[in-house]
Amino acid sequence: MGRWWVVALSEAVHGDKALAVTCEGEQLAVFRDGKGAVFALEDRCPHRRVPLSPGPVKAGGLQCPYHGWTFDGATGLCNDIPNLRRDERVPARYAARAFPAAEANGFIHVWRGAGTPAAVLPGASYRAAGREQTGSAVANIAFEQYLDVMLDGPECLLSFPGVHITDFFLGDPRRDGEHLVLDRGAVWKGKGNGPAFVRDHSLWVRTRVPLRGGDIRVELLSADEEPLVTIFIAASENRRGTTSLVWRGFRHATAAPLSWRWRMARAIGRAPFAIFPHIDGAAAAALEVAPSRDRRLAKTDARTPAERVVPVQERCVV
Ligand code: FES
Repeated sequence: MGRWWVVALSEAVHGDKALAVTCEGEQLAVFRDGKGAVFALEDRCPHRRVPLSPGPVKAGGLQCPYHGWTFDGATGLCNDIPNLRRDERVPARYAARAFPAAEANGFIHVWRGAGTPAAVLPGASYRAAGREQTGSAVANIAFEQYLDVMLDGPECLLSFPGVHITDFFLGDPRRDGEHLVLDRGAVWKGKGNGPAFVRDHSLWVRTRVPLRGGDIRVELLSADEEPLVTIFIAASENRRGTTSLVWRGFRHATAAPLSWRWRMARAIGRAPFAIFPHIDGAAAAALEVAPSRDRRLAKTDARTPAERVVPVQERCVV
């Protein structure tokens, strides 16, 4: 069965140029037509296998930069070959692989795999309600490991200014459809390690990690579970053990008590979070494999969602 993957930020695909991206280890050329609709082709010309993405976008689709064949974005069919004689037609078998593409909330999605594209796009769950910070990167960690570390030690992958993410988490990961959700304690820096029980921490970090696919949601919450920062991170497998990342996130307006560091960062317009493209391998390797074990087990769990209720109990990990 196929699935939607987020492959790019909407604003990264514009004009008469294609964007080269990598998803599930395969290179794609993503581009728009004159009306702004998005398309995705395998980034490989069927004629001589050169990348298509450096070619220009024409009225008929994406033109190969080598011999100038043009490929329709929706079907992948070649619709123009320069220098054909008047009585020659483009053979119907000349085609690049085309993938369904769609856009939602600033994310470009590509459907990969079998089946009819699902109606709901992963990016549809994200809604900005504040000034956004966006970005993209290739992280030096394999895709599945990235998802696991997001559960076991998100402080290896991202940070919030003036916030220390602790090793204390509240219970086991909760199953939410095809995601696992985990709440972890956090404290303002300079205030010590925080109370022994996560319920008493001044902040929480909530990570929502997919069992399959790459849509991750991270929230920094006040002790009253009021959101302070929301981040949507889209991850997908790149090549050679790396992971493609694109993200959007924002700081919420709030009346919750904040540290002076946080207020200062907000006053000077500092970003409310940072996503790390360079992962400290030693720190990631040292993480206890705990919540991610639940994710690995849940991926192979054949029970129905109603049967998969995970008991929540207070637990401290040191
Ligand atoms: S290699 Fe693309 S048209 Fe020849």
